[in-house]
Amino acid sequence: MSSKKPARSIASRVVRAWTLRTVFALIDMDLALLVLAQMGELQVRAWPGIAILAGVELLTLFMVRRSARKKAGRLVEPLERMARTAQEITSAEFDPERLKQLEDAISGVAPQNPHAHIATGDKGLKGLESAINDLLTRMNESYQERSRFVSDASHELRTPISVIQGYADMLQRWGKKDEKVLDEGISAIQSEAAHMKKLVEQLLFLARGDSGRTALNIEDVEACALMREVYEESRMIYPGRDWHLDAAPPVPARGDADMLKQAVRILTDNAVKYTREGDRISLRARIKDGCPCLEVQDNGIGIKPEDVPHIFERFFRSDPARSRASGGTGLGLSIAKWIVDRHGGHFEVYSREDIGTKIAIVLSPAPKAAEEENGKEE
Ligand SMILES: Nc1ncnc2c1ncn2[C@@H]1O[C@H](COP(=O)(O)OP(=O)(O)OP(=O)(O)O)[C@@H](O)[C@H]1O
Ligand SMILES: [Mg+2]
Repeated sequence: MSSKKPARSIASRVVRAWTLRTVFALIDMDLALLVLAQMGELQVRAWPGIAILAGVELLTLFMVRRSARKKAGRLVEPLERMARTAQEITSAEFDPERLKQLEDAISGVAPQNPHAHIATGDKGLKGLESAINDLLTRMNESYQERSRFVSDASHELRTPISVIQGYADMLQRWGKKDEKVLDEGISAIQSEAAHMKKLVEQLLFLARGDSGRTALNIEDVEACALMREVYEESRMIYPGRDWHLDAAPPVPARGDADMLKQAVRILTDNAVKYTREGDRISLRARIKDGCPCLEVQDNGIGIKPEDVPHIFERFFRSDPARSRASGGTGLGLSIAKWIVDRHGGHFEVYSREDIGTKIAIVLSPAPKAAEEENGKEE
């Protein structure tokens, strides 16, 4: 069975159709001339002209046939290629021995091993091998990331547990009679328990998010109203900062209002944590380049330039000692990133040491805003 047959027959059909079309056009012309001759309208003197015309017709027919053949060739070229590939696939011999070899190589691989890869030495399996090796690399990266996360989480939990244990022992020995030791012990245990509770909640949020168990409730959101709510509650909880709000509606957005509020709260928490008493913190909602934008700016300690690319990593803290002292676990921004990623948005970070930090959440344009923007462009 020849694979070229269907493609060829299409080509020849196209050529035939073009030729027939031209022949019919020429026959039409000849018939007209004959009718005219019959009616005596054409003089005998006109016959040489008719002969020349017939020659031109033949030449045209030849040229049309040639160009039709070329055009048809170009048209059917992809079909011919497809037919050739199909032929190659069907004629390729299925070799169960080679397949077994590949199976053995795959089953002998441990994906947790960072150097895991398969190499059968069979040239025919090279493409398949490199695809499997790429997959192994990605599996390994994800495995490493997970085990790093579990080890960091355990490490973070170990500290408050040790502190609680230490204070409990101290209370056991001396606290029963000494009121000062008792007070100190109780407040330390309370603060460590609160820290542990926050850490466990953050871990649960990320674990649920990673396993796809967190559903977003996407609806129309007015970003200015959302920023105002966070501004009002922040002013109440942290009266020691100089709070400002710049949010003039409309700033329409689409998203899960509670989740977006949580992301902005993470930014304001950081702004409070990394500023001093009386420092200015500004919240702003606006449309920037057609996108709703939620910004939190502070006049605090700023972030070292080399740390900026890492602040969204899980457990990253620029200054672990300071952050730990203020109750930081280094998970806040990775949770905010999870939320913003799920909204199809991104962050913009501007920071200078000892000058301050501005972090903006940039969301996708709300459908209505995008339509209006398109309308304006038209
Ligand atoms: N506004 C800011 N000013 C200065 N540094 C910041 C600011 N925001 C974030 N950072 C730096 O980024 C790091 C990561 O922030 P992230 O919110 O993830 O963790 P955290 O605040 O230390 O702890 P958590 O938010 O989990 O309580 C912080 O430890 C800090 O070093
Ligand atoms: Mg934080």
